[in-house]
Amino acid sequence: MPHESEALHLEEVEAAAITESLARGASRERLLEILLEVRDVKGGLGISEQGLLRVAERLRLFPSEAYEVATAFPAVNYMASVPYALHACGDLVCSLLHGEGSGHGVCRNRCDGARSAPNPRSFSAYRFAGGYQILDRLSRDLQEVPRLMESIATYRAIGRAGVGFPVVEKWRQVMRRGAVPVVIVNGDEGELAVFKDRFILENDPHGVIEAALVAARVTGADKIFFYIRDDYKPIHVILRKAIADVVSAGLASGIAIELRRSGGAYICGEETALIASLEGRPPRPAERPPFPTTRGYFGRPTLVHNVETFFRLRSVWGSAPEPDLPVSDLLAAEVTLFSVSGRVRNPGPKPVRGLSRLIDLVDIAGGLTEGVELGGMVVGGSSGTLLPAADCRRPLDELLSGRLRLGTGGIVVFGTGDDMRGVASKMAGYLARESCGQCGPCRVGTAKAAQALNAPGRLDVPLINDLSVVMSEASICALGRNAGRFLGRLPSLLETCDS
Ligand SMILES: Cc1cc2nc3c(=O)[nH]c(=O)nc-3n(C[C@H](O)[C@H](O)[C@H](O)COP(=O)(O)O)c2cc1C
Ligand code: SF4
Repeated sequence: MPHESEALHLEEVEAAAITESLARGASRERLLEILLEVRDVKGGLGISEQGLLRVAERLRLFPSEAYEVATAFPAVNYMASVPYALHACGDLVCSLLHGEGSGHGVCRNRCDGARSAPNPRSFSAYRFAGGYQILDRLSRDLQEVPRLMESIATYRAIGRAGVGFPVVEKWRQVMRRGAVPVVIVNGDEGELAVFKDRFILENDPHGVIEAALVAARVTGADKIFFYIRDDYKPIHVILRKAIADVVSAGLASGIAIELRRSGGAYICGEETALIASLEGRPPRPAERPPFPTTRGYFGRPTLVHNVETFFRLRSVWGSAPEPDLPVSDLLAAEVTLFSVSGRVRNPGPKPVRGLSRLIDLVDIAGGLTEGVELGGMVVGGSSGTLLPAADCRRPLDELLSGRLRLGTGGIVVFGTGDDMRGVASKMAGYLARESCGQCGPCRVGTAKAAQALNAPGRLDVPLINDLSVVMSEASICALGRNAGRFLGRLPSLLETCDS
């Protein structure tokens, strides 16, 4: 409890912060940003009830609408007495490395350990290397648009957020409706133990900005949102500077570029939830169709791609890779970007060309930490696959032609001394906490699954199987559906490990 004079001071600070934030834009779509700005000024403490009522009144919202938004985003830290961001992570990787009870916060995606300060390629260096020339070509020659679409199709560019949907198909859908589209760069990166987008933006932000501008020019969009994880603060600084450089060089004329922060929940990265949060609503996924490509941000056709998808597009218009940049390898289509963490000596983002076995990632990440024998890997994030060590030694192609999916390339290495069921229980706990709660199968299913995995004794396999079927068939979005599939794979896997 703050002292009385401290409380008074905090009220004044908050009142001033609200006034300033509203002066920057008093519209409902800025609601999340207003709440985050107030939180920042208050040193991480969320807005108070009176403050929220004031914001609601000014934005002409019912108090209940503003309350719904303020409480839906953990990062808003509504009425909290502890500053946001102080909790030590207690998620999968941190609990493996530092023990259960090392923290109780959510994964902050810093599983790659201590790193040096980012050193992004500057605007002038990017320009000097031939960057942004494609924009001149697009504005000079009308034929450049169909040529570029053809090149994207020939290159077979795919989305890198996990599903691998063809990029050209999304662009065509966005252009088909004939309305002015919006482009969104999805940098929410909420997936457990994944840090690839941060790696790209820290090294070469202009590679992403250029591709987003190309997407806007080709589709006729007049607005680009960079939607970036709230706690990726160095990235906000890097992007703000990079965007300002591009705008002052006149490269974005007619296209507004805005950086928005997400609200600290995994679901914020799901494209329909993301769009809802940009519109000032709670981040709840919508039933599809319609897909955002036809009806997205305020009903406009909306192109959402992952940061890595945009970055890799540069290869399509022939940018020469610069060998000294750590991210340059990504310009080769056969390179996969893995986020390797867990019981390895040198965790981090690893661009790998033609990986033949998953176990080779252990060597690429400096080998196992001392005294550890490989127990297996979690492949593909929170609802990914738990692979025992023997499978990590099998040819990757063989696994991929079966049921293995790499998702966004998250790899968590664990040892024989780590309890597989404990690892599965952490993943289920993450999904239960991150379920937005909108639909019963996911809300109840993820909670029951986490409970069952945590309970002592034999696993209730019939329950897990039932939950798996209901969740994979009846959940609104991919969080619940993928969680169902994850549960479906678990019983046989845990049995193999027990025997
Ligand atoms: C629970 C959930 C979280 C997601 N989080 C992200 C994310 O952080 N970043 C991202 O690019 N896509 C995320 N997605 C996928 C997006 O909905 C969308 O498909 C993606 O941004 C499209 O990018 P792509 O075309 O480049 O693959 C998430 C999906 C789900 C179901
Ligand atoms: S599946 Fe889960 S995360 Fe997705 S809408 Fe339903 S409750 Fe929310």
